[in-house]
Amino acid sequence: MYRSKIAGIGYYVPERVVTNDDLSKVMDTTDEWIQERTGIRERRYGQKHHETTSSMGAKAARIACERAGIEPSEIDFIIFATLSPDYYFPGCGVLMQRELGITESEAGALDIRNQCSGFIYALSIADQFVKCGTYKNVLVVGAEMHSMGLDFSTRGRNVTVIFGDGAGAAVIQRSENESRGILTTKLHADGTYAEKLAFINPGAHGGYHMDHLDEKVDYGYPPADTYGEIFITPKMMEEGMTYPNMEGQFVFKLAVTKFPEVIREALQEQGLQTSDISMLIPHQANLRISQMIQRQLGLKDDQVWNNIQKFGNTTAASVPIALCEAWEAGKIKEGDLVCLAAFGSGFTWASALIRW
Ligand code: COA
Repeated sequence: MYRSKIAGIGYYVPERVVTNDDLSKVMDTTDEWIQERTGIRERRYGQKHHETTSSMGAKAARIACERAGIEPSEIDFIIFATLSPDYYFPGCGVLMQRELGITESEAGALDIRNQCSGFIYALSIADQFVKCGTYKNVLVVGAEMHSMGLDFSTRGRNVTVIFGDGAGAAVIQRSENESRGILTTKLHADGTYAEKLAFINPGAHGGYHMDHLDEKVDYGYPPADTYGEIFITPKMMEEGMTYPNMEGQFVFKLAVTKFPEVIREALQEQGLQTSDISMLIPHQANLRISQMIQRQLGLKDDQVWNNIQKFGNTTAASVPIALCEAWEAGKIKEGDLVCLAAFGSGFTWASALIRW
């Protein structure tokens, strides 16, 4: 077995800045409410018709490849994590491959649907492939274009104000130094509460999971013996059922338990302590969540990277964007112990320990 490492990282966020005040012009919300509850001041939105999840992913990927000292054509395998894909299918992996102009290599492309934990899940898969010697250069991308699928009326305010667009990427390669690189990854899931944070329609569920909803919903499906109108019904469109929903407080309470748990699990396996962490990169879900994790782990302000204030929650992109920003700011140096951690829809949660 080899050890793998992050050989290059990059991120891209769209130019357009959307402040809390901008949102308060289209829905009943305030800068004060958003900052107080989430820490978010502004987020970025991609340019419709000119940018997509896969195109932003490609921009981040090019930077990561350059920093890893490889051409995109040298990538052996692509892993793309997103919950806001350009198409229902095919996935963003192949679209980004085309965008990067590397279809000739016919490198495999895998899409990951693990929402906020998506990047760490993707990193873990890349780690296995590189450790086993299957692939030399694996490109891991987390990207989101949330702004295309949010409810900008007051009905959607509890979700919409939180999310932003962006992309982060990393090239995973074999580490020449056995003691450096990805030490471990821990992945978990519990589908019991799948609907507590979900984007249910359009989908092929046909009302099947109704027992798991707190309230029965009439999706407006035609009689069971007719075909069609299964993914999306006129009623869903008319009544705004085609947006993400979230039980914020429920998610919050689980997040502040699972984050420290999965971080400690990774540390314990490696015989390390929380005090050994040089930099914690938590998924940027809510500044209050990050601060609670920081307190629980006894970390100082300069040991935790937060950028939710500027970018909001970019789901699968949030960990690689934050990691890249911290690295660019010179806050991650050779030999540092970097911990990545995420929790989100599914529920899924994950951590990774990297000796940089
Ligand atoms: N602006 C103003 N008021 C808002 C609002 C907004 N954007 N969104 C919700 N509200 C209102 C609600 O309608 C509610 O009003 P009511 O008391 O009159 O019914 C009130 O604010 C409190 O809502 P609540 O949902 O209880 O607020 P909260 O303190 O739990 O904060 C979240 C909401 C979403 C910020 C918070 O629960 C959270 O961050 N949860 C975790 C979410 C998360 O991490 N998601 C991603 C997972 S990775």
